[in-house]
Amino acid sequence: MGNCFVVKIKAENSTDSANSTWGASSRNGSKSTTEYSNSNPSKAMSLSSVSHTPRSEGEILLSSNVHSFTFNDLKTATRNFRPDSVLGEGGFGSVFKGWIEEQTLSAAKPGTGTVIAVKKLNQDGWQGHREWLAEVNYLGQLSHPNLVKLIGYCLEDEQRLLVYEFMPRGSLENHLFRRGSYFQPLSWSLRMKVALGAAKGLAFLHSDKARVIYRDFKTSNVLLDSDYNAKLSDFGLAKDGPTGDKSHVSTRVMGTYGYAAPEYLATGHLTARSDVYSFGVVLLELLSGRRAIDKNRPSGEHNLVEWARPYLTNKRRVFRILDSRFGSQYSLTGAHKVANLALQCLSMDARCRPSMGQIVSVLEQVQDPKDLPKPASTGAGTNGKSGKKVKSRSLEAIMSVKVEYPKPSASPLYA
Ligand SMILES: Nc1ncnc2c1ncn2[C@@H]1O[C@H](COP(=O)(O)OP(=O)(O)O)[C@@H](O)[C@H]1O
Ligand SMILES: [Mg+2]
Repeated sequence: MGNCFVVKIKAENSTDSANSTWGASSRNGSKSTTEYSNSNPSKAMSLSSVSHTPRSEGEILLSSNVHSFTFNDLKTATRNFRPDSVLGEGGFGSVFKGWIEEQTLSAAKPGTGTVIAVKKLNQDGWQGHREWLAEVNYLGQLSHPNLVKLIGYCLEDEQRLLVYEFMPRGSLENHLFRRGSYFQPLSWSLRMKVALGAAKGLAFLHSDKARVIYRDFKTSNVLLDSDYNAKLSDFGLAKDGPTGDKSHVSTRVMGTYGYAAPEYLATGHLTARSDVYSFGVVLLELLSGRRAIDKNRPSGEHNLVEWARPYLTNKRRVFRILDSRFGSQYSLTGAHKVANLALQCLSMDARCRPSMGQIVSVLEQVQDPKDLPKPASTGAGTNGKSGKKVKSRSLEAIMSVKVEYPKPSASPLYA
């Protein structure tokens, strides 16, 4: 593909190939115009970086900073996994609401102590022990304001459970797509806040210290606290990023149809830029209020990306994909900026996709000032103490570069 801004970044950066997130420049410490130089998630976290040496199950469980619960503890804490306390369901099983004592972590009376969410492996589900262990491995080591906190796990006979902090507003999926009085349509400014929070979570995972590919970024895996701060959960499919000079990891193709990057679907080659593609899909869902895949729409509109792409490339038509529930509460400039960002994330050529650090910087620019944290803790997009925006001009220039529109027939999703 010809004209995409990563070409420029590559020239300034290094000779590294598709995955410039973990390219040579980040390893040898030289400063580049990309990546995390101006988004420093490490400021906001208490980090224990991920161990990338293969570890046995025992080592993972021993070294994780989380509590080991008995099955009985969790049975009591959730009132015997009461069906009316189900918070959500996924491929792994059901998630139940429960209560534990703050200090001892033993089961507490409902309504007292700390609220928890307990994910219980569905014993005839397709996911299993491997995904459970991946969650303990990653969430047991990583800590960041935009990742859900893992409190503990239970491993007993056939039982596999995970215990997380409770996220009072549930998943982004529910807020975007559930109809009903509890779920009011999310405003433009809240959607931008959620997008920024989720982007910071992914930027942290992609940072040199964590080097993790999330692999299952979608609205049901983005959870919201009472203040609409977004946190990534569900690390069952997460993978260590490539090491050495490798640009990708080769894996079995897993993830969710409609969100997975086309080159990953076609080759099984997984890079951090596969997550960026999925982020672009979620950005489109936020802009449009439509699901990534929706068979109930008229034919030609089932696949959100394929339907929206022609509108994204045209400044005058972009408003046609915007959620009608926004009314007039968004600025057209902001909408253009985010639509253009989504388009970049959805580039068919992975090298043309921005890094998560760049995405954070662009999303910082479209925030409602009252939703932004104070400059000192803002981290990404500001230069620390002064809180001044840095590099916004060059990013502006970057984001306005026209991208060649890939022909729909080139998409493996059509194969
Ligand atoms: N910590 C939590 N707080 C509140 N709701 C949660 C929490 N964790 C999960 N859920 C709900 O359960 C759903 C499934 O959880 P998830 O971890 O994605 O499971 P799976 O691995 O089965 O996909 C989420 O989409 C959300 O609605
Ligand atoms: Mg899930």
